[in-house]
Amino acid sequence: MRPFVAVTDSVFPSLDPARAVLATIGADLELAAQATPDAILRIAEGADALLVTYAKITAEMIGAMKKCRVISRFGIGVDNVDIDAATSAGIVVTKVPDYCIDEVSDHAMALLLALVRKIPASNAQVHEGRWEMKAVVPIHRLRGTVLGLVGFGRIPQLVAPKAQAFGMRVVAHDPFAPADVLAGHGVEAVAFDELLRQSDYVSIHTPLVPETRNLFSRDVFRKMKPGAYLVNTARGPIVDEAALAEALDQGHLGGAALDVMPQEPPVNSPLVGRPDILITPHTSFYSEESLLELQRKAAEEVVAVLSGRAPRNAVNPDVQRSL
Ligand SMILES: NC(=O)c1ccc[n+]([C@@H]2O[C@H](COP(=O)([O-])OP(=O)(O)OC[C@H]3O[C@@H](n4cnc5c(N)ncnc54)[C@H](O)[C@@H]3O)[C@@H](O)[C@H]2O)c1
Repeated sequence: MRPFVAVTDSVFPSLDPARAVLATIGADLELAAQATPDAILRIAEGADALLVTYAKITAEMIGAMKKCRVISRFGIGVDNVDIDAATSAGIVVTKVPDYCIDEVSDHAMALLLALVRKIPASNAQVHEGRWEMKAVVPIHRLRGTVLGLVGFGRIPQLVAPKAQAFGMRVVAHDPFAPADVLAGHGVEAVAFDELLRQSDYVSIHTPLVPETRNLFSRDVFRKMKPGAYLVNTARGPIVDEAALAEALDQGHLGGAALDVMPQEPPVNSPLVGRPDILITPHTSFYSEESLLELQRKAAEEVVAVLSGRAPRNAVNPDVQRSL
C-alpha cells in the first residue's frame, strides 16, 4: 500500500515541492476540497500523515484519524493543533522553526537601516520634486552605536553579525540563552534594564508568551535611551501600542519600525499614519526561497516518521520514543 498524506489547507501556489519529497517514499498527497472539518476528515480519516497550515485540528478530528502517525505543520507555531490529543493518540506533531531566519534577520536590519538613513521619507520627497538634504536632517552615523537584541534565539543570532558588519556594538538580553552562545557571537549579555539604558536601537526577538505580552510598556519606554529607535519583527502584542505612540508623541523615542502589530491588519491603531513609524505587513518571513524550504522541510518530517526515523523538530518527541 502506498502511504497517503492528506493536506488540510495550503497557502502555496503549488504543492509540487512537498509532493516531490513525499514521492521519495512513494507517498501520494491530496489537498482537502475545503478547509472545513468535514472536508478535511473526508481525506484525513484514512491518511497516514497530515500536513497542516492554518486549519484547526481538534481532539475530535484526531480521534477520527485512525491511521495517522504524524501531523506536520507548514510553519513555526503549532497552536492550531490539539497537541495533548495528538500525544494521547500516539501521533507525532512537528514544526519547521528555521525556514525563514535569513529573511527575518535581513528584514530587521532593513527596517533599522531604513529608519536610520530615513529612506522612506527621502524617497517620498524626491518623488514630490524635493531634491534636498535639509528635509532629512538630522541623520546620525551608525558605526559606534549600540544595538540591543531582546531574545537571542535563531533570528537575532543572524542579526548580530549583520549589525556588527556595520560597526555596531551588539548587546543582548535572553534569560535562557547560554552565556557561551552570546560570547561566541561577540555579543555582551546584559540585564533587560541595562539593555534599555545602553541601546541606541532595540530589536525585539522574543516569542509571544505571557511574560512578554505588553513587555514594551510605558515604564519600559521611559527606561529607553532618549532618541532611541525600536524595531519589532517578533509579535505585535509584545509592544503596548498606546504606550509606543505616547513615547513618540513626547519625543522620547526617535522612531520605530514594525513588521508585526497587535491586531493584523491594524484597525484604528494609533501607530498607523505617523511619519516616525515604518510598518510592513508581516512579511519578514517571506521570500520565494523560504516558502519552498518550508514546504520541503515539513514534507521531510512526514517522510522521516513514516520511514521509522526521528523527525528534526517534534513538539512531542516522547511519542516517537514510545512507539
Ligand atoms: N515577522 C515574521 O514574519 C516572523 C517570522 C518568524 C519568527 N517571528 C518571531 O520571531 C521570534 C524570534 O524567532 P527565533 O527563531 O529567533 O526564536 P527562537 O525560538 O529561536 O528563540 C527565542 C528566544 O527567545 C528567548 N526568550 C524567551 N522568553 C524571553 C524573555 N522573556 N526575554 C528575553 N528572551 C526570551 C528564548 O530563550 C530563546 O532564546 C519568534 O518568537 C517569532 O514570534 C516572526
